[in-house]
Amino acid sequence: MLETHIDFQTIENLHATGLYGPRGLTLVRGNGATVWDETGRRFIDCTGGYGVASVGHAHPRVAAALAAQAQNLISCPGFFGNDQRALFLEDFSQILPGGMNRVFLCNSGTEAVEAALKFARLTTGRPGVAAAMRGFHGRTMGALSATWETQYREPFAPLLDGFRHIPFNNVAALDEALTETVGAVLLEVVQGEGGVRPGTPEFLQGAQRLCRERGALLILDEVQTGFGRTGRMFAHEHFNLEPDLLCLAKGIAGGFPLGATVLGPRVAPLKVGQHGSTFGGNPLACAAGRATLAVLRGEHLPWQAMEKGTWLLERLQAWSSPKIREVRGLGLMVGIECRERVTPYLQQLQERGVLALNAGPTVIRLLPPLVISSEELAETVTAIREVLQ
Ligand SMILES: Cc1ncc(COP(=O)(O)O)c(C=O)c1O
Repeated sequence: MLETHIDFQTIENLHATGLYGPRGLTLVRGNGATVWDETGRRFIDCTGGYGVASVGHAHPRVAAALAAQAQNLISCPGFFGNDQRALFLEDFSQILPGGMNRVFLCNSGTEAVEAALKFARLTTGRPGVAAAMRGFHGRTMGALSATWETQYREPFAPLLDGFRHIPFNNVAALDEALTETVGAVLLEVVQGEGGVRPGTPEFLQGAQRLCRERGALLILDEVQTGFGRTGRMFAHEHFNLEPDLLCLAKGIAGGFPLGATVLGPRVAPLKVGQHGSTFGGNPLACAAGRATLAVLRGEHLPWQAMEKGTWLLERLQAWSSPKIREVRGLGLMVGIECRERVTPYLQQLQERGVLALNAGPTVIRLLPPLVISSEELAETVTAIREVLQ
């Protein structure tokens, strides 16, 4: 038992930046889709730690890989080779789309997007980027320039020049925006933060066609949708897309920080020093990533996400409530759009032992670990019904 007389929340509130609205809960332990607070109370974690814990919290294989590697070698600059990095990249290449065989390793989603924007600029020489309304790509200045929501952008204006936002799922608007100065189109396959909104095949395939015709690169931000979340290893597989650059993070390393930008054949060769990262591709992250890939494949987690996500979506869609406008999603990425702000609902779910995220003001977002059990899913549905009835 932990020292429960310590008020962890107050200590954090005293020293932290105040950037995260606290939920009044201190998590100290996790196993699969379950987490516990410092008093031993159990919760079903449908936040999945912001969607990173795809293989479940504290997966024994990931934990063992981290522990072993931590006693061996934690850091290793990119100019030295490393066994863990090499082995991770080799395993990773087996799940990547054909022709995408160059990988830049970093530490987060926003860095993966930032690198993709730079590699696209190097390749095309064009400054323009077309992104989508309601898109979310991260909080560093380049990724933020592509992000739509004004609350994230406005305090930091002016952002980078040349970024345009077109309505998601509107090919005609993209057609009009894709002028000769635009070098990249940056899209999520399912918009996460923007409300769990799947792209349509017409839009996503249209975006790829327009990019090819106009000499721009298609950057897919699969930071949230990658690694099985939507029922395929990558969400773009649902739509037969061939991105030029693929941005990945979140579920890649069992919750350990790791990000990746994957380059297709249309991306120009890179020269020494054009980009880099001190921590990117460190042996600890790569060991965790390798173990995570083995679990994803060995436990057929993309398939599990599809089965469980379909079950969840059907249960929620089969039930109507005056509080719900729409239920939508793909795999285990589910959004419940409500008629009112969802903050009180999230609190009520938490009181019933279910932790969930918002996606904008009116959408409850569920991103549980892909290993969530059918009992836990059923409990989640019951709690949602109680709160939203
Ligand atoms: C689609 C997408 N891109 C980028 C990011 C940024 O990732 P990170 O918070 O790891 O920088 C996120 C984070 O939620 C995301 O959902």
